Amino acid sequence: MASESHAEHLDRNYRYQRHVYDLTREYYLLGRKRLIAGLNPPKGGSVLEIGCGTALNLIRAAARFPDARYYGVDLSRMMLETAEAALARRKLEGRIKLALGDATDFDARATLGQAEFDRVFFSYSLSMIPPWEAALDHAAGLVARGGSLHIVDFGGCEQLPASAKRILYSWLAQFRVTPREALEAELTALSNRHGLSLNFERIYRGYSYYAVLKRN
Ligand SMILES: C[S@@+](CC[C@H](N)C(=O)[O-])C[C@H]1O[C@@H](n2cnc3c(N)ncnc32)[C@H](O)[C@@H]1O
Repeated sequence: MASESHAEHLDRNYRYQRHVYDLTREYYLLGRKRLIAGLNPPKGGSVLEIGCGTALNLIRAAARFPDARYYGVDLSRMMLETAEAALARRKLEGRIKLALGDATDFDARATLGQAEFDRVFFSYSLSMIPPWEAALDHAAGLVARGGSLHIVDFGGCEQLPASAKRILYSWLAQFRVTPREALEAELTALSNRHGLSLNFERIYRGYSYYAVLKRN
């Protein structure tokens, strides 16, 4: 039997989970509201989420900053189906455009109609993307001049008890989620390569990492 692709794995993972996703993740995908508040896009600006899942972040961002245009990309058809239904229920299809794509190489101009965005963000998706460094590199190339790249994800639990970290990591591993402990080092290298400034924080005792990279 051919081995399962990453996209097939995601669809299998989310086939049933997507129906309870928003409710359950509220309790442990910490820092997402902070990321949304920090987007603060310019009037008429564009915001792209990579690995948008059910589109909850985009819906919340659109409510908070109604003057911007919103875009989302995800590799799971199942998640996008749930996201499209959520947009339709709220009559947001005209303001939030979604597309199927792999974070490492999607063609933003072909799938979303534009090649650069004022804000680009990852929320708990880098920890699910095996070649996460390539996804970051691709995203940095999509940030418009004066724009920024925002990230929130699981961290290395540096200030939590070792037992808490062990339990969290083994639970996440069941879903092929891997906290990116090298995120700060990778973002430092990325900011040097792309001429971005970096602000990196360990929040909730390292449970999450939060970063903003700005292009001048
Ligand atoms: C944990 S969910 C996070 C969803 C949403 N960003 C949030 O904060 O609730 C991770 C998402 O990343 C998507 N994903 C994983 N690998 C991907 C890839 N290579 N390209 C695009 N999306 C990917 C998954 O399908 C899933 O929807």
